[in-house]
Amino acid sequence: NTRYRIALIPGDGIGTEVLPPARAVLDAVGRRHGLSFGYDTFDWSCARYRAEGAMMPDDGLDRIRHHDAVLLGAVGWPGVPDHVSLWGLLIPIRRQFRQYVNLRPIKVLDGVPSPLAGATGDVDFVVVRENVEGEYSEIGGRLNRGFPDEMAVQEAVFTRPGVERVLDYAFTTARRRGGDLVSATKSNGIVHTMPFWDELVREAAGRFPEVAWRQEHIDALVAKVVLDPARFDVIVGSNLFGDILSDLAAAVAGSIGLAPAANLNPERAYPSMFEPVHGSAPDIAGQGTANPLGAIWSASMMLDHLGHPEAAAEVFDAFTSVLAMTGVRTRDLGGTASTEDFTRLILEAVTGSQPAGRRGLG
Ligand code: NAD
Ligand code: IPM
Ligand code: MN
Repeated sequence: NTRYRIALIPGDGIGTEVLPPARAVLDAVGRRHGLSFGYDTFDWSCARYRAEGAMMPDDGLDRIRHHDAVLLGAVGWPGVPDHVSLWGLLIPIRRQFRQYVNLRPIKVLDGVPSPLAGATGDVDFVVVRENVEGEYSEIGGRLNRGFPDEMAVQEAVFTRPGVERVLDYAFTTARRRGGDLVSATKSNGIVHTMPFWDELVREAAGRFPEVAWRQEHIDALVAKVVLDPARFDVIVGSNLFGDILSDLAAAVAGSIGLAPAANLNPERAYPSMFEPVHGSAPDIAGQGTANPLGAIWSASMMLDHLGHPEAAAEVFDAFTSVLAMTGVRTRDLGGTASTEDFTRLILEAVTGSQPAGRRGLG
Protein backbone atom coordinates (compact mmCIF):
# COMPACT_ATOMS: atom_id res chain seq x y z
CA ASN A 1 0.00 0.00 0.00
CA THR A 2 1.53 3.27 -1.14
CA ARG A 3 0.57 6.34 0.81
CA TYR A 4 0.64 9.89 -0.48
CA ARG A 5 0.18 13.20 1.27
CA ILE A 6 -1.78 15.64 -0.82
CA ALA A 7 -2.17 19.34 -0.06
CA LEU A 8 -5.72 20.43 -0.93
CA ILE A 9 -6.31 24.10 -1.63
CA PRO A 10 -9.98 24.47 -2.59
CA GLY A 11 -9.71 28.28 -2.82
CA ASP A 12 -12.76 30.27 -3.84
CA GLY A 13 -16.12 29.85 -5.54
CA ILE A 14 -16.52 26.64 -7.49
CA GLY A 15 -12.98 25.70 -6.51
CA THR A 16 -14.55 24.47 -3.28
CA GLU A 17 -17.23 22.56 -5.23
CA VAL A 18 -14.99 20.69 -7.65
CA LEU A 19 -12.29 19.49 -5.24
CA PRO A 20 -14.47 17.11 -3.19
CA PRO A 21 -15.41 15.20 -6.37
CA ALA A 22 -11.74 14.97 -7.37
CA ARG A 23 -10.89 13.68 -3.92
CA ALA A 24 -13.69 11.10 -3.95
CA VAL A 25 -12.51 9.81 -7.32
CA LEU A 26 -8.92 9.58 -6.09
CA ASP A 27 -10.02 7.58 -3.06
CA ALA A 28 -12.13 5.24 -5.18
CA VAL A 29 -9.45 4.50 -7.73
CA GLY A 30 -6.82 4.35 -4.99
CA ARG A 31 -8.66 1.48 -3.28
CA ARG A 32 -8.38 -0.54 -6.47
CA HIS A 33 -4.64 0.08 -6.81
CA GLY A 34 -3.35 -0.07 -3.27
CA LEU A 35 -2.88 3.69 -3.07
CA SER A 36 -4.04 5.71 -0.14
CA PHE A 37 -4.19 9.45 0.07
CA GLY A 38 -3.88 11.56 3.18
CA TYR A 39 -5.17 15.06 2.67
CA ASP A 40 -4.27 18.27 4.39
CA THR A 41 -6.75 20.99 3.54
CA PHE A 42 -5.64 24.62 3.51
CA ASP A 43 -8.21 27.43 3.64
CA TRP A 44 -6.04 29.80 1.58
CA SER A 45 -8.47 31.95 -0.34
CA CYS A 46 -9.99 35.38 -0.78
CA ALA A 47 -12.15 34.68 2.29
CA ARG A 48 -8.98 34.19 4.29
CA TYR A 49 -7.56 37.36 2.80
CA ARG A 50 -10.58 39.31 3.99
CA ALA A 51 -10.40 37.84 7.47
CA GLU A 52 -6.65 37.85 7.99
CA GLY A 53 -5.15 40.15 5.39
CA ALA A 54 -3.23 37.49 3.48
CA MET A 55 -4.14 34.75 1.04
CA MET A 56 -1.86 32.33 2.87
CA PRO A 57 0.34 32.47 5.96
CA ASP A 58 3.93 33.73 5.68
CA ASP A 59 5.27 30.21 5.91
CA GLY A 60 2.56 28.85 3.62
CA LEU A 61 4.89 27.40 1.03
CA ASP A 62 6.93 25.64 3.72
CA ARG A 63 3.78 23.94 4.93
CA ILE A 64 3.19 22.26 1.58
CA ARG A 65 6.76 21.84 0.39
CA HIS A 66 6.99 18.23 1.47
CA HIS A 67 3.63 17.06 0.21
CA ASP A 68 3.66 14.70 -2.74
CA ALA A 69 1.41 16.99 -4.76
CA VAL A 70 -0.90 19.98 -4.51
CA LEU A 71 -4.49 19.88 -5.75
CA LEU A 72 -5.97 23.33 -6.20
CA GLY A 73 -9.54 24.40 -7.03
CA ALA A 74 -9.43 28.04 -8.08
CA VAL A 75 -8.65 31.38 -6.52
CA GLY A 76 -10.16 34.80 -7.08
CA TRP A 77 -13.34 36.47 -5.88
CA PRO A 78 -15.10 39.76 -6.62
CA GLY A 79 -14.08 42.40 -4.12
CA VAL A 80 -10.53 41.16 -3.80
CA PRO A 81 -8.44 42.46 -6.69
CA ASP A 82 -7.17 39.63 -8.86
CA HIS A 83 -3.57 40.81 -8.55
CA VAL A 84 -3.88 40.32 -4.79
CA SER A 85 -5.32 36.81 -4.95
CA LEU A 86 -3.06 35.64 -7.75
CA TRP A 87 0.26 37.14 -6.64
CA GLY A 88 -0.65 36.09 -3.11
CA LEU A 89 -1.17 32.41 -3.79
CA LEU A 90 -1.22 30.89 -7.26
CA ILE A 91 1.81 32.56 -8.79
CA PRO A 92 4.13 32.07 -5.76
CA ILE A 93 3.34 28.34 -5.74
CA ARG A 94 4.09 28.00 -9.44
CA ARG A 95 7.30 29.97 -9.12
CA GLN A 96 8.75 28.89 -5.81
CA PHE A 97 8.12 25.26 -6.63
CA ARG A 98 9.71 25.72 -10.06
CA GLN A 99 6.60 24.43 -11.80
CA TYR A 100 7.90 25.70 -15.09
CA VAL A 101 5.73 23.48 -17.25
CA ASN A 102 1.99 23.99 -17.42
CA LEU A 103 0.71 20.98 -19.31
CA ARG A 104 -2.81 21.27 -20.72
CA PRO A 105 -4.18 18.38 -22.74
CA ILE A 106 -7.03 19.03 -25.16
CA LYS A 107 -9.28 16.28 -26.46
CA VAL A 108 -12.66 16.30 -28.09
CA LEU A 109 -14.35 13.55 -26.10
CA ASP A 110 -17.11 11.25 -27.27
CA GLY A 111 -20.43 12.76 -26.32
CA VAL A 112 -19.07 16.29 -25.87
CA PRO A 113 -19.72 18.16 -29.07
CA SER A 114 -17.22 20.80 -30.06
CA PRO A 115 -18.77 24.14 -30.97
CA LEU A 116 -16.78 23.76 -34.18
CA ALA A 117 -18.57 21.78 -36.83
CA GLY A 118 -16.34 18.93 -37.90
CA ALA A 119 -14.06 18.86 -34.86
CA THR A 120 -14.22 15.26 -33.67
CA GLY A 121 -12.27 12.66 -31.76
CA ASP A 122 -9.14 13.21 -33.80
CA VAL A 123 -8.63 16.49 -31.95
CA ASP A 124 -6.02 15.45 -29.40
CA PHE A 125 -3.16 17.74 -28.53
CA VAL A 126 -1.35 19.28 -25.59
CA VAL A 127 -0.42 22.85 -24.84
CA VAL A 128 2.92 23.12 -23.08
CA ARG A 129 2.89 26.53 -21.46
CA GLU A 130 5.95 28.18 -19.93
CA ASN A 131 4.73 28.78 -16.40
CA VAL A 132 7.13 30.87 -14.34
CA GLU A 133 8.59 33.70 -16.40
CA GLY A 134 7.88 35.48 -19.69
CA GLU A 135 5.18 38.11 -19.75
CA TYR A 136 4.08 37.33 -16.16
CA SER A 137 6.91 39.27 -14.58
CA GLU A 138 7.09 41.34 -11.43
CA ILE A 139 9.29 43.93 -13.05
CA GLY A 140 7.40 47.11 -13.65
CA GLY A 141 4.26 48.62 -12.29
CA ARG A 142 1.92 51.57 -12.38
CA LEU A 143 3.48 55.01 -12.53
CA ASN A 144 2.16 58.54 -12.14
CA ARG A 145 -1.23 57.36 -10.93
CA GLY A 146 -3.87 59.99 -11.44
CA PHE A 147 -1.66 62.24 -13.58
CA PRO A 148 -2.17 62.87 -17.28
CA ASP A 149 0.99 60.94 -18.09
CA GLU A 150 -0.11 57.93 -16.06
CA MET A 151 1.33 54.69 -17.35
CA ALA A 152 1.80 50.99 -16.75
CA VAL A 153 5.06 49.24 -17.63
CA GLN A 154 5.95 45.58 -17.44
CA GLU A 155 9.11 43.86 -18.60
CA ALA A 156 8.78 40.42 -20.12
CA VAL A 157 11.59 38.18 -18.91
CA PHE A 158 12.85 35.32 -21.05
CA THR A 159 15.96 33.60 -19.73
CA ARG A 160 17.99 31.05 -21.67
CA PRO A 161 17.70 28.34 -18.98
CA GLY A 162 14.04 29.15 -18.40
CA VAL A 163 13.14 28.79 -22.06
CA GLU A 164 15.44 25.84 -22.76
CA ARG A 165 13.95 23.68 -20.03
CA VAL A 166 10.35 24.14 -21.13
CA LEU A 167 11.31 23.58 -24.76
CA ASP A 168 13.11 20.38 -23.84
CA TYR A 169 10.01 19.23 -22.03
CA ALA A 170 7.84 20.06 -25.05
CA PHE A 171 10.14 18.32 -27.54
CA THR A 172 10.37 15.29 -25.26
CA THR A 173 6.58 15.20 -25.12
CA ALA A 174 6.33 15.41 -28.91
CA ARG A 175 8.84 12.59 -29.26
CA ARG A 176 6.96 10.39 -26.80
CA ARG A 177 3.66 11.03 -28.55
CA GLY A 178 5.24 10.39 -31.93
CA GLY A 179 3.92 13.72 -33.08
CA ASP A 180 5.11 17.11 -34.14
CA LEU A 181 5.68 20.38 -32.33
CA VAL A 182 4.45 23.88 -33.07
CA SER A 183 6.08 26.83 -31.37
CA ALA A 184 3.77 29.78 -30.79
CA THR A 185 5.67 32.95 -31.56
CA LYS A 186 5.52 36.53 -32.75
CA SER A 187 8.86 36.69 -34.41
CA ASN A 188 8.60 39.66 -36.68
CA GLY A 189 10.90 41.50 -34.30
CA ILE A 190 8.24 43.82 -32.94
CA VAL A 191 8.20 41.88 -29.68
CA HIS A 192 11.90 41.72 -28.76
CA THR A 193 11.70 38.58 -26.76
CA MET A 194 10.31 36.40 -29.51
CA PRO A 195 13.29 36.24 -31.90
CA PHE A 196 15.25 35.00 -28.87
CA TRP A 197 12.57 32.38 -28.14
CA ASP A 198 12.74 31.32 -31.83
CA GLU A 199 16.52 30.97 -31.66
CA LEU A 200 16.22 28.73 -28.62
CA VAL A 201 13.54 26.68 -30.37
CA ARG A 202 15.91 26.09 -33.31
CA GLU A 203 18.64 25.03 -30.89
CA ALA A 204 16.26 22.70 -29.06
CA ALA A 205 15.15 21.23 -32.37
CA GLY A 206 18.79 20.36 -32.96
CA ARG A 207 18.74 18.29 -29.77
CA PHE A 208 15.63 16.44 -31.01
CA PRO A 209 16.37 15.72 -34.67
CA GLU A 210 13.62 13.07 -34.81
CA VAL A 211 10.85 15.56 -33.96
CA ALA A 212 9.23 17.51 -36.80
CA TRP A 213 8.51 21.10 -35.82
CA ARG A 214 7.45 24.46 -37.15
CA GLN A 215 6.70 27.86 -35.75
CA GLU A 216 3.52 29.85 -36.22
CA HIS A 217 2.73 33.40 -35.31
CA ILE A 218 0.34 33.45 -32.38
CA ASP A 219 -2.31 35.44 -34.24
CA ALA A 220 -2.36 33.10 -37.22
CA LEU A 221 -2.00 30.12 -34.91
CA VAL A 222 -5.17 30.80 -32.91
CA ALA A 223 -7.06 31.03 -36.19
CA LYS A 224 -5.67 27.66 -37.29
CA VAL A 225 -6.56 26.05 -33.97
CA VAL A 226 -10.14 27.08 -34.67
CA LEU A 227 -10.10 26.12 -38.36
CA ASP A 228 -8.26 22.82 -38.11
CA PRO A 229 -7.66 21.69 -34.51
CA ALA A 230 -6.94 18.09 -35.52
CA ARG A 231 -3.62 19.01 -37.12
CA PHE A 232 -1.97 19.85 -33.79
CA ASP A 233 -0.07 17.60 -31.50
CA VAL A 234 2.15 19.63 -29.16
CA ILE A 235 1.98 23.42 -29.04
CA VAL A 236 4.60 25.14 -26.92
CA GLY A 237 4.18 28.76 -25.94
CA SER A 238 5.25 31.47 -23.55
CA ASN A 239 3.34 32.13 -20.35
CA LEU A 240 0.81 34.54 -21.85
CA PHE A 241 0.51 32.93 -25.28
CA GLY A 242 0.08 29.53 -23.63
CA ASP A 243 -2.58 30.91 -21.30
CA ILE A 244 -4.68 32.29 -24.12
CA LEU A 245 -4.19 29.24 -26.30
CA SER A 246 -5.28 26.91 -23.55
CA ASP A 247 -8.67 28.57 -22.94
CA LEU A 248 -9.25 28.76 -26.67
CA ALA A 249 -8.39 25.09 -27.01
CA ALA A 250 -10.59 24.19 -24.04
CA ALA A 251 -13.53 25.90 -25.71
CA VAL A 252 -12.79 23.98 -28.91
CA ALA A 253 -13.00 20.79 -26.86
CA GLY A 254 -16.49 21.72 -25.65
CA SER A 255 -16.19 23.55 -22.33
CA ILE A 256 -13.62 25.21 -20.14
CA GLY A 257 -15.30 23.25 -17.32
CA LEU A 258 -13.57 20.04 -18.34
CA ALA A 259 -10.08 21.30 -19.14
CA PRO A 260 -7.31 20.05 -16.84
CA ALA A 261 -3.87 21.41 -16.04
CA ALA A 262 -0.70 20.12 -14.47
CA ASN A 263 1.82 22.61 -13.13
CA LEU A 264 4.89 20.44 -13.21
CA ASN A 265 8.27 20.55 -11.61
CA PRO A 266 9.69 17.83 -13.85
CA GLU A 267 12.78 17.38 -11.66
CA ARG A 268 10.51 16.55 -8.70
CA ALA A 269 12.57 18.71 -6.39
CA TYR A 270 9.26 20.32 -5.35
CA PRO A 271 5.63 19.21 -5.41
CA SER A 272 3.74 19.71 -8.64
CA MET A 273 0.29 21.27 -8.61
CA PHE A 274 -2.82 20.04 -10.38
CA GLU A 275 -5.78 22.34 -11.04
CA PRO A 276 -8.57 22.78 -13.51
CA VAL A 277 -7.94 25.45 -16.14
CA HIS A 278 -11.08 27.32 -15.14
CA GLY A 279 -11.40 29.91 -12.39
CA SER A 280 -13.74 30.38 -9.45
CA ALA A 281 -16.76 31.16 -11.68
CA PRO A 282 -18.54 33.63 -9.38
CA ASP A 283 -21.48 33.62 -11.78
CA ILE A 284 -22.42 30.01 -10.94
CA ALA A 285 -20.74 29.50 -7.55
CA GLY A 286 -22.91 28.19 -4.74
CA GLN A 287 -25.42 26.51 -7.03
CA GLY A 288 -23.84 23.07 -7.03
CA THR A 289 -23.85 22.96 -10.81
CA ALA A 290 -20.15 23.31 -11.65
CA ASN A 291 -18.66 20.72 -13.94
CA PRO A 292 -16.19 18.72 -11.81
CA LEU A 293 -14.43 17.16 -14.80
CA GLY A 294 -11.64 19.71 -15.04
CA ALA A 295 -10.70 18.91 -11.45
CA ILE A 296 -11.18 15.17 -11.85
CA TRP A 297 -9.10 15.05 -15.03
CA SER A 298 -6.44 17.11 -13.23
CA ALA A 299 -6.46 14.54 -10.42
CA SER A 300 -5.96 11.86 -13.04
CA MET A 301 -2.91 13.77 -14.30
CA MET A 302 -1.68 13.79 -10.72
CA LEU A 303 -1.92 10.00 -10.59
CA ASP A 304 0.10 9.81 -13.77
CA HIS A 305 2.73 12.15 -12.33
CA LEU A 306 2.94 10.08 -9.14
CA GLY A 307 3.78 7.06 -11.27
CA HIS A 308 0.39 5.35 -11.59
CA PRO A 309 -0.56 5.54 -15.25
CA GLU A 310 -3.01 2.63 -14.97
CA ALA A 311 -4.95 4.32 -12.20
CA ALA A 312 -4.83 7.58 -14.15
CA ALA A 313 -6.18 5.85 -17.25
CA GLU A 314 -8.99 4.25 -15.23
CA VAL A 315 -10.16 7.66 -14.09
CA PHE A 316 -9.97 8.98 -17.61
CA ASP A 317 -11.85 5.97 -18.95
CA ALA A 318 -14.48 6.28 -16.22
CA PHE A 319 -15.49 9.83 -17.06
CA THR A 320 -15.15 9.42 -20.81
CA SER A 321 -17.42 6.38 -20.66
CA VAL A 322 -20.00 8.30 -18.61
CA LEU A 323 -19.92 11.00 -21.28
CA ALA A 324 -20.07 8.52 -24.13
CA MET A 325 -22.71 6.21 -22.67
CA THR A 326 -25.09 8.45 -20.75
CA GLY A 327 -26.78 11.73 -21.52
CA VAL A 328 -26.06 13.06 -18.05
CA ARG A 329 -24.38 16.46 -18.26
CA THR A 330 -23.72 19.50 -16.14
CA ARG A 331 -25.13 22.82 -17.29
CA ASP A 332 -22.05 24.04 -19.11
CA LEU A 333 -22.50 21.03 -21.41
CA GLY A 334 -26.18 21.68 -21.92
CA GLY A 335 -27.51 19.34 -19.21
CA THR A 336 -29.24 19.73 -15.88
CA ALA A 337 -27.22 17.39 -13.64
CA SER A 338 -25.76 18.75 -10.43
CA THR A 339 -22.08 18.44 -9.63
CA GLU A 340 -22.98 15.75 -7.12
CA ASP A 341 -25.14 13.63 -9.44
CA PHE A 342 -22.59 13.73 -12.19
CA THR A 343 -19.81 12.84 -9.75
CA ARG A 344 -21.82 9.87 -8.46
CA LEU A 345 -21.96 8.40 -11.97
CA ILE A 346 -18.23 8.79 -12.39
CA LEU A 347 -17.62 7.13 -9.04
CA GLU A 348 -19.80 4.21 -10.08
CA ALA A 349 -17.88 3.92 -13.32
CA VAL A 350 -14.57 3.93 -11.43
CA THR A 351 -15.73 1.33 -8.95
CA GLY A 352 -17.22 -0.90 -11.61
CA SER A 353 -14.47 -0.56 -14.17
CA GLN A 354 -12.29 -3.32 -15.52
CA PRO A 355 -8.53 -2.86 -15.27
CA ALA A 356 -7.63 -0.18 -17.78
CA GLY A 357 -6.97 -1.44 -21.24
CA ARG A 358 -7.71 1.61 -23.24
CA ARG A 359 -5.30 4.34 -23.99
CA GLY A 360 -5.13 7.02 -21.33
CA LEU A 361 -3.96 10.54 -20.97
CA GLY A 362 -2.40 13.26 -23.00
P1 NAD B 1 -13.83 31.40 -14.95
O1 NAD B 1 -13.11 30.25 -15.54
O2 NAD B 1 -13.99 31.41 -13.50
O3 NAD B 1 -15.29 31.51 -15.63
C1 NAD B 1 -15.46 31.72 -17.03
C2 NAD B 1 -16.85 31.20 -17.46
O4 NAD B 1 -16.81 29.76 -17.52
C3 NAD B 1 -17.96 31.52 -16.48
O5 NAD B 1 -19.15 31.79 -17.19
C4 NAD B 1 -18.12 30.25 -15.66
O6 NAD B 1 -19.42 30.06 -15.14
C5 NAD B 1 -17.76 29.17 -16.66
N1 NAD B 1 -17.14 28.02 -15.99
C6 NAD B 1 -15.85 27.97 -15.56
N2 NAD B 1 -15.62 26.79 -14.97
C7 NAD B 1 -16.76 26.07 -15.03
C8 NAD B 1 -17.14 24.76 -14.57
N3 NAD B 1 -16.28 23.95 -13.96
N4 NAD B 1 -18.42 24.36 -14.80
C9 NAD B 1 -19.28 25.17 -15.45
N5 NAD B 1 -18.98 26.40 -15.89
C10 NAD B 1 -17.73 26.86 -15.69
O7 NAD B 1 -13.03 32.72 -15.43
P2 NAD B 1 -13.21 34.25 -15.02
O8 NAD B 1 -14.66 34.56 -14.89
O9 NAD B 1 -12.36 35.00 -15.97
O10 NAD B 1 -12.52 34.38 -13.60
C11 NAD B 1 -13.20 34.36 -12.35
C12 NAD B 1 -12.18 34.45 -11.23
O11 NAD B 1 -11.36 33.28 -11.24
C13 NAD B 1 -11.24 35.62 -11.32
O12 NAD B 1 -11.02 36.11 -10.02
C14 NAD B 1 -9.98 35.02 -11.90
O13 NAD B 1 -8.83 35.74 -11.56
C15 NAD B 1 -9.99 33.67 -11.28
N6 NAD B 1 -9.25 32.64 -12.03
C16 NAD B 1 -8.50 31.78 -11.29
C17 NAD B 1 -7.85 30.74 -11.91
C18 NAD B 1 -7.03 29.82 -11.09
O14 NAD B 1 -7.16 29.79 -9.89
N7 NAD B 1 -6.20 29.00 -11.68
C19 NAD B 1 -7.97 30.56 -13.28
C20 NAD B 1 -8.77 31.45 -14.02
C21 NAD B 1 -9.40 32.49 -13.37
C1 IPM C 1 -4.73 30.07 -15.57
C2 IPM C 1 -5.27 31.40 -15.09
C3 IPM C 1 -4.16 32.17 -14.43
C4 IPM C 1 -3.04 32.39 -15.41
C5 IPM C 1 -4.58 33.53 -13.89
C6 IPM C 1 -5.76 33.38 -12.98
C7 IPM C 1 -3.43 34.24 -13.27
O1 IPM C 1 -5.84 32.10 -16.14
O2 IPM C 1 -4.30 29.26 -14.73
O3 IPM C 1 -4.75 29.84 -16.77
O4 IPM C 1 -3.09 33.28 -16.25
O5 IPM C 1 -2.07 31.63 -15.34
MN1 MN D 1 -5.91 31.03 -18.02
